[in-house]
Amino acid sequence: MNIELDNIRKDFPILNEKVNNKPLVYLDNAATTQKPQVVIDAISNYYTHTNSNIHRSAHTLASNATELYENSRDTIQKFLNAKYRHEINFTRGTTEGINLVMYSWAMHNIHEGDEIIISALEHHSNLVPWQQLCTQKKAKLLIIPINEHGELMMDIYYKQLSVKTKLVCCVHTSNSLGTINPVKDIIEKAHLFGAKVLIDGAQAVAHAFIDVQALDADFFVFSGHKLFGPTGIGVLYAKESILNEMNPFHYGGEMIKTVSYETTTFNDLPYKFEAGTPNIAGVIGLGVAIKYVESVGFDFIQKQETALLQYATEKIQQINGLRIIGTANNKASVISFVIENIHTYDVGVLLDKMGIAIRTGHHCCMPLMESLSLEGGTCRASFSFYNTKEEVDTLISGLERVVRMI
Ligand code: ALA
Repeated sequence: MNIELDNIRKDFPILNEKVNNKPLVYLDNAATTQKPQVVIDAISNYYTHTNSNIHRSAHTLASNATELYENSRDTIQKFLNAKYRHEINFTRGTTEGINLVMYSWAMHNIHEGDEIIISALEHHSNLVPWQQLCTQKKAKLLIIPINEHGELMMDIYYKQLSVKTKLVCCVHTSNSLGTINPVKDIIEKAHLFGAKVLIDGAQAVAHAFIDVQALDADFFVFSGHKLFGPTGIGVLYAKESILNEMNPFHYGGEMIKTVSYETTTFNDLPYKFEAGTPNIAGVIGLGVAIKYVESVGFDFIQKQETALLQYATEKIQQINGLRIIGTANNKASVISFVIENIHTYDVGVLLDKMGIAIRTGHHCCMPLMESLSLEGGTCRASFSFYNTKEEVDTLISGLERVVRMI
């Protein structure tokens, strides 16, 4: 292990834990990433020294808390290269961001006979809301299929687009197969028909620099916890012009300008979409997590993750009876696999006994798993920049043991 990586691992206290009396090998980063000490400290410091409600009171703690909270918004604006800070809306996570768009935009803009396009790679969070809306509105849901590598069949997508298309919702990077989708092209083509595009960036933001202006995304959502930040916090980016037209999602305090018993006028962006006391510590922690990612740098992150993916792919496919599911050309550091005659759950439990954490099952992509005839889903090892080749070796010898045991 090189010194840089060794130092990075020291930033993540949990990586020194033992699980089942074995050193933890954490390969479930697509489910959630671990937190560096600076993020843990930021949350603890906030509650120890600054805890106060924001945007309300005149006292010093309240103004310090407000400053920390709003500084995070600036950090995120720069991180996504959004044009305006008020295009950054805090949510509980990706799921809430998508539901916000569904209730506040789509509910008013999708009508009978309209079409919404999603991809076969969607997580339930970017499928169920659109399926339910289409049922309610008598609109049609079209699915972009995938080829045998788990890549979107773009020729079919181009044919699905029409003047009936009002919205395209697509995952940037598949959580289950690791496929990185050509989102710029997806957005460009949808815009030719006047459709809006929502990109689920949950699995993308920790691996590559995202420029929402260059992408020209109408909506972009992600979660803090997959970006080395806390759980329960996420971001919805949307273009100012669209946010201005949208109705509030939640009604209550903070999102109002004036209230009488008869009527209410709504607050300016972004507060129109941030009713109630928000997850202040979460927002602060997320801002610090992003600064941490920036200090490591995407050059290092991508170099490290590409090397791990390549190394692990070469080794894992030599295991007897193992088949990799998802072999896209453009792929994130995720390996989904099945092993002949062994249930995925059993693989997960046996590896856990050896201190190795992977995810097993349908990965919140039941229709996808069904279309691949994978009843038990897959085993999924997902790598982050703090993982090492030695950990890949531990996974490989763990899998070899599992195969021998059965
Ligand atoms: N969406 C998360 C995953 O892929 C939970 O594991």
